[in-house]
Amino acid sequence: AATAETTDTADAGSGDLISIGFAQVGHESDWRTASTKSAQDVFSEANGYELSFVDCDNDSAAQLEAVRGFIQQDVDYIIIDPIVSTGWDTVLTECEDAGIPVIVIDRTIDDSDKYVSWVGSNFKDEGLACGEWLKAYADAKGMGEINALVIEGSTGASATIGRTDGFKEIADKYGWTILDSQSGDFTEAGGQEVMESFCQSYAGQFNVVICQNDNEAFGAMTAMDNAGVSYGVDGDVVLVSFDANKPALQLVMDGKITANFECNPMAAPFVEQVIQQLQAGETPEKEIYMDESWFAAEDIVSTINVNGTQQEMVHVTQDVL
Ligand code: AHR
Repeated sequence: AATAETTDTADAGSGDLISIGFAQVGHESDWRTASTKSAQDVFSEANGYELSFVDCDNDSAAQLEAVRGFIQQDVDYIIIDPIVSTGWDTVLTECEDAGIPVIVIDRTIDDSDKYVSWVGSNFKDEGLACGEWLKAYADAKGMGEINALVIEGSTGASATIGRTDGFKEIADKYGWTILDSQSGDFTEAGGQEVMESFCQSYAGQFNVVICQNDNEAFGAMTAMDNAGVSYGVDGDVVLVSFDANKPALQLVMDGKITANFECNPMAAPFVEQVIQQLQAGETPEKEIYMDESWFAAEDIVSTINVNGTQQEMVHVTQDVL
């Protein structure tokens, strides 16, 4: 169930703190934990904020309810990381009518533009980068046919939609086979469960596993270990992940995860800039993209072309960690 907490209890008499309601997706992954911590660190009482935080536990109805609760509270600003990308226009209209500016982070809202700014990552580019890296890597290694299995993130999340579309576009371009694509809900348990069923259904048929986040990759590794499937730079299966959190980058350096495409969880400092601009009567940018890097276990592919731009692949060594 969704849980609400007020991170910092405002002194009723102070009146100076900027009040913020943050409707967070949940706590499904290490990425999410980093995102929550980023917001709690930036929007602290010491920095002049009162943060009401709701963990929506991946429940879209609870997230709408949380936003309506913030309207009732009459907070100064609302931050939403939308669990799914649709179904937002009504509640965003209610925020607008109440005069409360909304800032969207990470995942996108695709059926309404009634928010001030969005801060996040280009998920489709992440999927395209994954595909273009795989093409260059497979050619360099003489892999032959690509038979891929995809463990998707949560259904309806723009992170899932973008990564799926981007990789599929490249798979279609090069004529690869995607044997199956199932949701692991961005969790370690979900990744393990899906990979266990893939290992049974496609034994000996696949040479690439794409996990749409690091926690799913951890679960998939457990499933492949149990099924006796070898993966990584010395194995039979190329294992790719997204997020690039620290434990996962260690696994890239160890050669277990073959490549990892970063998703930056540290949106809060950018959101604070947006809020400070609004406080000063300025108009913030509508879309703010954060920097991300692409990481590989081996120094085989140095650059890839994504949307016409040459982008660097970072070879993970101790210096990177
Ligand atoms: O929306 C961002 C995605 O959600 C991250 O890739 C994943 O780890 C998280 O749960």
